[in-house]
Amino acid sequence: MSGMPLLFEMPGQEPLASRLAGVLPAERGRMEIRHFPDGETYVRVDSPCDGRDVVLAATLAQPDALALPLLFAVRGLRDRGARRIVLAAPYLAYMRQDVRFRPGEVVTSMVFADFLGALVDGLVTVDPHLHRYHSLGELYRVPARVVHAAPAVASWIADHVTAPLLIGPDSESEQWVSEVAGLAQAPHVVLSKTRRGDRDVEIEVPPLEPWSGRTPVLVDDIVSTAGTMIETVTHLRRARYPAPVCVGVHGLFAGDAYAALKRAGAGTIVTANTVPHPSNRIDLTEVLAVALRELLDPPPDDSASETVP
Ligand code: R5P
Repeated sequence: MSGMPLLFEMPGQEPLASRLAGVLPAERGRMEIRHFPDGETYVRVDSPCDGRDVVLAATLAQPDALALPLLFAVRGLRDRGARRIVLAAPYLAYMRQDVRFRPGEVVTSMVFADFLGALVDGLVTVDPHLHRYHSLGELYRVPARVVHAAPAVASWIADHVTAPLLIGPDSESEQWVSEVAGLAQAPHVVLSKTRRGDRDVEIEVPPLEPWSGRTPVLVDDIVSTAGTMIETVTHLRRARYPAPVCVGVHGLFAGDAYAALKRAGAGTIVTANTVPHPSNRIDLTEVLAVALRELLDPPPDDSASETVP
């Protein structure tokens, strides 16, 4: 890479872009994106890119609304001479429909990966929801770096919760809840979850007496409807455990999910800053910047590793 990258952001991504610009470092580029009264998108890239690398900050929490403006913005950046365009998408959408459960369903994770892969030259994200895929490389055909939130989550818990007991909601969470627990030097349990619908989950909570006196800390990668956390919190409160601390990496909080989780009896609710939300307490800017630098300027002996610890 020659020179400092230019950093642009999609609408609403100003906080992420400002933080990244400081630590990358990068020069800020200017781009205007707005909607006409009929809803169509207007895009104008003000800054010339003239053979430079571009980082485009665009967390993908509202992917459907973002997709078309993103397509136009990337076209504008290329017209302005961008050499490579790397997407800084701390939250990567469309990772959960990773299989066809019923005939006729579209495996949207694949289609979305094709869409993004055709658009940009690289991608940096945080803990994508890898369940049936084992790595992002199985889906994405562009170079990708994955940042793990576990160390930052563990250090937040260690610094803020006395005698935590980490609780993962389902078997999918085992791998990373156990990693966070190891780093935070705390015990953990993993529950069993049955999902019956978008907002209908059933959680089985085993007896937690062996850990009485500890503060329950629910840890999940995504909080969407918060149904998973609400169901768990409700069980724990009924069993007279203290208000659980709820930690999510990606706090999507669809609709009134945040208020509903509070009403259910959650204690402190904390998320990483991958999706802007007042609950953001865990800052991943530094590790994102490391991953972006590695993607733009790989070390000579880089073995195409996908992961940034
Ligand atoms: C699912 O497998 C994820 O790890 C989360 O547990 C899930 O996305 C949470 O969704 P919700 O907040 O809607 O229950």
